[in-house]
Order: sequence, then structure tokens, then C-alpha cells
Amino acid sequence: MAKAVVIIGAQWGDEGKGKVVDILTEQADMVVRFQGGNNAGHTVITGSEKFIFHLIPSGILHQGKTCVIGDGVVVDPEVLLKEIGVLKAKGIFRPEDLIVSKDAHLIMPYHKKLDLARERLRGKARIGTTGRGIGPAYEDKVARCGIKCADLLDEGEFRAKLKANLLEKNHYITTILHEEGFEIHEIYHSYMTFAAALGPHIKNASKFVYDSMQAGKKVLFEGAQGTLLDIDHGTYPYVTSSSTIAGGACTGSGIGPTRIDSVIGISKAYATRVGEGPFPTELSGAEADKLREQGNEYGATTGRPRRCGWFDAVALRYAARVNGLDGLVITKLDVLDNTEKINICTGYKYNGKVLDEFPTEVSVLSNCEPVYEVMEGWLSPTNGAKNLKKLPAKAQKYLKRLEELAGVPVVMVSVGANRNDAIMIKNPFK
Ligand code: GDP
Ligand code: IMO
Ligand code: MG
Repeated sequence: MAKAVVIIGAQWGDEGKGKVVDILTEQADMVVRFQGGNNAGHTVITGSEKFIFHLIPSGILHQGKTCVIGDGVVVDPEVLLKEIGVLKAKGIFRPEDLIVSKDAHLIMPYHKKLDLARERLRGKARIGTTGRGIGPAYEDKVARCGIKCADLLDEGEFRAKLKANLLEKNHYITTILHEEGFEIHEIYHSYMTFAAALGPHIKNASKFVYDSMQAGKKVLFEGAQGTLLDIDHGTYPYVTSSSTIAGGACTGSGIGPTRIDSVIGISKAYATRVGEGPFPTELSGAEADKLREQGNEYGATTGRPRRCGWFDAVALRYAARVNGLDGLVITKLDVLDNTEKINICTGYKYNGKVLDEFPTEVSVLSNCEPVYEVMEGWLSPTNGAKNLKKLPAKAQKYLKRLEELAGVPVVMVSVGANRNDAIMIKNPFK
């Protein structure tokens, strides 16, 4: 029986990780976010209500399951408190269920300013970030000048680190970016107010998760973003600043690789991307609009329309390799219900040759032409099906083909946004 299951996005993010984590939390004792920050937007729809989680793990709606914000996450305390506030107002926040790692780094107001100013400076070459200060916060972590959640609990330490950072940041912001700098007092006071509210949650998360696992508890690791946005393995520089792949679950939580039992990748039945960067199977015009409207493809964090395209099996095979996928969850199958001909990209044509390995070089990927295989659409509803056999035969065939091309078994299929709209084929915890 699996005790530690990692969930990651196998595409460019927004694959439906929040929904899958919510479903699998029933079998788990704990959910751990291990990277990213509030650039993430994870949607859970319970029937009557819709929740979008940015920092709090998507298992929080389940009573008595501990939700951990791990060492590898970057935390904007203001956003976290807002998220807690929403849950409190609905009477579903249990303070004992939320742990924030003392070693997670803080997103500071200057990180957001730097993120936005740099994007403006880049002009046409912009990355299309979420503007939440994610990149600059990770830069400071790696530059060894970041401020951690633990520092919120030590006023003197916090003030000294803030002072040292502002000295450098204010100079850069005013002289290079020609924008207004920051006052230490303002940031200090607002962060001390956040500290008072978050203090009771800030703990040694890595030890807590380890001890719980030793005691036999089952843990779900919740990835944010997706494989192709990974800092090392994604379409650099059009990526986010963290390790979004399965390996990140270990570095971002302090749990060793030998303790992970299973890695599950989430993919839509087609593809989307938000922000800039190459996207070989991208559609334009009416075809893209149709997918966007039927799939309601608008960002859960920024509201930006998502770019839409066909399922890319070359990219998925790559995701299967770099994550070591044991299983695949295909989401949003229902969005293709009215599509007559469905394309699947099985290879990339580049300089007259067909590549079957995913190139991460932007210059190559941007000039790849997808090679498509065409499948017949099923043209009937999939929503409501409770097992695979209840799906139209052509939808079953489509899933089989995706499984074959990815080389990974499909363990769950999602056929609607609601938490009940899912077909479990093989529960990863069993
Ligand atoms: P995440 O970031 O991976 O958690 O995904 P998002 O929440 O950003 O985006 C997924 C969107 O698709 C959300 O609006 C979900 O409510 C919705 N969704 C998830 N699974 C399905 C599905 O099977 N069918 C449909 N129609 N919508 C889904
Ligand atoms: P979830 O967890 C989709 C994208 C941004 C941009 C790039 C860098 O909901 O799947 P950043 O603000 O991280 O520096 O932006 O990454 N991006 C996402 N795209 N889903 C996400 O999260 C994303 N988080 C960041 O659009 O292209
Ligand atoms: Mg999302």
C-alpha cells in the first residue's frame, strides 16, 4: 500500500491538480505543498461552492487532514492570511490543520515590485509572469539573502535582514528601474502584524511530515505549476522559478526520495498554457476560442485567457520521463465532447526531420511543426459516467491511445469540474 504519493502537473500548469488532490485527500492523512507560491491557483468545486487555493493545500476542505506549506514554497503572508480569512468566514478553518514551514521563504513587497518592473522592462521579451514576486523571492533565496518564515518570529533578526535587503533593493529600484523605493518602517510593521497572526502555524514542517510518516500516516504531495514550467527541465526562460517536477517534492519538503511510493502526473485531454513561450500544438482563431469557452480556460489566479491547443504526446512522454510517472490522470475529457476530429501530436518536425524527443531549447521548440494523428470525436456527453465502460467507445479509444503514447497507465479520468465528476481506475494509495 502506497503511503507517499506525489501529484504533479504534466503540462504547463492548470491541469486540474487542485481537483485531483481534493479527491485523493480522502485516502490521505496529510497534504504537503512543496514549491511555488501564490502564482498557483488550484480550483476545487464541491457542488455548491467553488474554492481557489493559492497557498493553502487543496486538501483543506477535509476535516482533520493536516495541510502543510513546505520548506520549498515562497509565502506571501498577506495572501495566506486572506485565504485563511475566506475559510474562516465559511466556518471551515481549523487552525490546528495548517502548518507553515519555518524554512519557507517570504515574498516581500519589493519582490512584487521587481517582478512587475522587470516584466515591463523586458517589453516584447516578457515571460508573462503572474506578477506575484515569485522569481525575485527565489532569487534572494539562492543569493542567500532571503527572509524566512522563522524570521517573523524574531523581531530583531527580521529587522536586520530587512534593513540589509532594502539597502540593496532600494538602490536598484531607484537608480536602475527608476521607481520609488521602500520605507523600512512600513514593511516592518505590516510584517509584524502578519507574524502575530501566522506565528502559531510556523513550525518545523519537515520534521512534522517525517515523524507522521514514521507513525504510518499517508501523505499526498501537491505540486504547483507544471513540468514544462520547471526551472531546470522546462522551456527556459519561459518557466517559473522552482522545481515543479516530482523531484521537487523531496527537496521542497525535506523527505528523502526513498520514502516516495508513487508519482502521478495530471494532464488535460488537450493542452493549455498561460503567459509567453513556445507551445507547438497551440491553436488560433475559432478552434482555440471553442476550446477556451468549452473548457472555461481563464486563469484561476490572474483571470488571463489561457492559450489552447491539442494534446501533445511528445511533451507528455518527456514529462513521464523526468518525473518517473507511475500513473496519469486525464482531466477535462468532457470539454472535447462536441469535437468532431481530435488531433494528437505524436512527433515534431524540425528542419525536415521528425524529432520524437522533446527539445527544451526555445529556438528549436518555437520552430517545430507538430505531426498529428487524427481521431474521431465521440460527439456525446461523458459527464455523469461513473466507470470507463460508461464512456462512449470512441472516448475510451482516445484514452487508450493517450495511455499508449505516454507509456503510462491512466489511473483516473475527470469528466467535469465538480469533485464527483471523476472515474477512479486505480487509486494511487491502494
Ligand atoms: P490546477 O492549477 O492544476 O489546480 O488547475 P486550475 O484550477 O487552475 O484549472 C483547472 C480548471 O478546470 C478549473 O476551473 C477546474 O474547476 C476545471 N476542471 C477540473 N477538472 C475538470 C474536468 O474534468 N472537466 C471540466 N469541464 N473542468 C474541469
Ligand atoms: P498552477 O499551480 C499555469 C506561469 C506564468 C508564466 C510563468 C512564470 O495553478 O498550475 P511566475 O509568476 O511563476 O514567475 O510566472 O509561469 N505560471 C503558471 N501557469 N499555472 C500555474 O500554476 C502557473 N504559475 C505560474 O503564467 O508564464
Ligand atoms: Mg491553476
